[in-house]
This record gives sequence, structure tokens and C-alpha cells, in this order.
Amino acid sequence: MSAIFLPRAMRIGAGAINELPGALAQLGLKAPAILTDPFLADSGMLGRLLKVLEDAGFPVRSYSGVTPDPTTASVDAAVSFIKGGNHDCVIGFGGGSSIDTAKAVAVLAVRGGKIHALKAPNENNEAGMPIVAIPTTAGTGSEATRFTIITDEVTDEKMLCAGLAYLPVLAIVDYELTLTKPARLTADTGIDALTHAIEAYVSTFANPFSDMMAISAMRAIWPNLRSAFVSPSNRPAREAMMVGSLQAGIAFSNASVALVHGMSRPIGAHFHVPHGLSNAMLLPVVTAWSAPAAVARYADCARAMGIATFEDDDQSAVTRLVEALRGLNTDLAIPSPKIYGIDEDRWNALLPIMAEQALASGSPNKNPRVPDSAQIQMLYRQVWS
Ligand SMILES: NC(=O)c1ccc[n+]([C@@H]2O[C@H](COP(=O)([O-])OP(=O)(O)OC[C@H]3O[C@@H](n4cnc5c(N)ncnc54)[C@H](O)[C@@H]3O)[C@@H](O)[C@H]2O)c1
Ligand SMILES: [Fe+2]
Repeated sequence: MSAIFLPRAMRIGAGAINELPGALAQLGLKAPAILTDPFLADSGMLGRLLKVLEDAGFPVRSYSGVTPDPTTASVDAAVSFIKGGNHDCVIGFGGGSSIDTAKAVAVLAVRGGKIHALKAPNENNEAGMPIVAIPTTAGTGSEATRFTIITDEVTDEKMLCAGLAYLPVLAIVDYELTLTKPARLTADTGIDALTHAIEAYVSTFANPFSDMMAISAMRAIWPNLRSAFVSPSNRPAREAMMVGSLQAGIAFSNASVALVHGMSRPIGAHFHVPHGLSNAMLLPVVTAWSAPAAVARYADCARAMGIATFEDDDQSAVTRLVEALRGLNTDLAIPSPKIYGIDEDRWNALLPIMAEQALASGSPNKNPRVPDSAQIQMLYRQVWS
């Protein structure tokens, strides 16, 4: 038996942002508040969204104080903004940081308190304010997931919060919003989406529905990630990345992420490495270590991505997969933690805490090969250089 959870409505395709008023009206939503970040506010993209809503007669307020990798303090500030108006829904407009902020705010504005009380292994299914997600990166899939990730700035822990309370009621998925992404952001967010698809497929929580979404996402992402990286205005590549990212989000939200994400969050929290980039640093090493426990599943991934064919046996397909992931990192200029500039002594000193935080998130337990703390620290050491 599988339990599947999806947004109530989605509008997908070029110009979908113009459909927002109609989509809100269909859901009976009348008074939105937009949460976004300073870049999207200054770039004119927020202005365009405000105009779409104002032209349709919606009273709307916007807040542009979202910080990358949102913290408990930045979420609390956004909650105060929401309470200063009379709103019936929260729109997260931007990358995963804006959408995740909107999710946390939607819950805290109704139930009060702090987000710490809700972190994994707690699950929160109690509805908060309705959440509308409008992604501008093709990466997190947060527009269709039942998760939000908020950093505790005191302990530097990236807290994973899960439950139906964080699942948007509406996702507006318009790839034209991603045409402005620079190459570095395209690569990092694209590898995040690819990692979601691979991890959903190999996770021990995979099911026939999540498999279908994960395979479809890998087929879309692998042949288009390099193209979007080298030619930002390649519309078919951008469209494939956006749809692939959505499908990968649906896949892992209905299965799970696994060891790469478990180990990635502590790197992001302690060293402020962007989420997709820390996934990319880990993906080849963690795949090579995990594959012996699920050779056939990783071989399916290699075939879906077009890296291997049905003529290759499973073991050779997996060997090709690991080589291809290393090659992707080279082509997308992914640095090792050392080249990124992380201090080696601090990295080594933090390994036991990072391993503990990775295990506490629950993601490593869903990996096909389940590590203990010593094995996670060994993998972090391998990834270092
Ligand atoms: N909730 C989930 O299911 C889920 C899944 C994966 C990751 N995440 C979280 O999402 C966050 C990362 O999100 P992200 O990778 O989308 O990045 P982000 O939201 O942090 O944005 C990164 C930067 O890109 C800029 N940007 C966004 N869209 C742009 C565009 N179209 N053109 C140019 N610049 C643009 C932003 O202004 C920001 O400066 C992390 O906190 C991560 O933990 C959440
Ligand atoms: Fe991710």
C-alpha cells in the first residue's frame, strides 16, 4: 500500500504565472500575501507578480526579507509581517528559500510557537494557512513537497519539518521564471533536482507511483542540465528542467530522500554551502558506497538517464553511473569542500556532530545501505578532497 500526497491544483507551462488570479479564485482565496527575497524584489519579477494580482483586483501585500537557507529568526520576522495584514493565504515566490519560508509561516501564523517544536521526527498534518508556491528555480521541487527546511541559527542545525501542513494547495510552475538563473545557480539547483530523483528511486520508501515520477524526472533532467548550464536562454532545456524538478519533488515527497541529503544538510548549515552544491559534492561518493546494496535500482537510474542501455548488465550500468556523476561534477565546475575554501581543521573537528545531525534527520535510514556514524564520517573524509 502506498499513501500519495499532491498539491490540490497545479498550473504548469510558459506564462502560467498569468493564471494565478484564476487559480486563486478557483480555490476561493481572496487576500494573498507574497513572501520573497531581495533579489526577486529588485529584479522586477516581484513587480510583475504584483501587477498580475492587482490588475485582477486582489488586495495584496508583499514582504521581501526572505534570507537564503531561511533561519528561525527570518521566519519569525515573516510571521510578524503576515499578522500585520488580513490574509487568507501565503504565496512563496522564489527558490526553495522563499517557498520554505512561506510554508513555515503558514503553519506558525495559525498555531503560534516556534518551528523547533515541529522538527523531524515529528510530523505535522494540522492545516495552517493555505500555501501557494511559485518556484523561480528548477531544483528543490518544494512547490510539491510536504517538507520545509529551516536552520536553527543558534545550533546551526538545518531542521527538517514534515507533514501535510507544508504541502502547497496550489503550485504555479512557469519555466520562463527560470530564464534569468545564472550558470552557477542553474547547476546547483539542477543537481539538487537530479539527487531528489535518484534518492527517491533508491530509497527504501520507494513505491510504484514515486518510481514513475523519479524515472520521468531523470529522463528530463540528465540530457538538459548541461544545456541549461551552458546556454541559459535554451527554452526547451529550461522547460525540461522545470518539469523534471517538479516530478523529482513529487517523487521524494512520496518516497524519501536518503543519505546524500542527510549528509548535505550539515554541510550547508555549518559552512554555508548552497544546498544543491553540497549535494553535488556528495553524490558520486555516496552513490558508489550505496550501490552494492541496490545494484538493480541504480542500474535503472543509469538507463533512465541514458548513461547505460539494456545491453549493459546491472553492474556495468552502475559503474557507468558513478563515472557519469563524476564527469557531470567536472563539467559543472563543482568544487570539493577543500577547493570551496572550507577550513580543514574545522571540517575534521565537526565530523562527529555532522554525522550525528545527518543521522538525526532520519534520511540516512532510508538509504539502501544504512550507515553508522563512523561510516558517515569516513564518507565525509572521502568527499573532502
Ligand atoms: N522543502 C523542500 O522540499 C526542499 C527540498 C530541497 C531543498 N530545500 C531548501 O531550499 C533551499 C534552497 O533553495 P534554492 O536552491 O531554490 O535557492 P534559494 O531559494 O536559496 O535561492 C538562491 C539564490 O537564487 C536567487 N534566485 C532565485 N530565482 C532566481 C532566478 N530565476 N534568477 C536569478 N536568481 C534567482 C535567489 O534570489 C537567491 O539569491 C535550501 O534552504 C534547501 O534546504 C527545500
Ligand atoms: Fe534537495
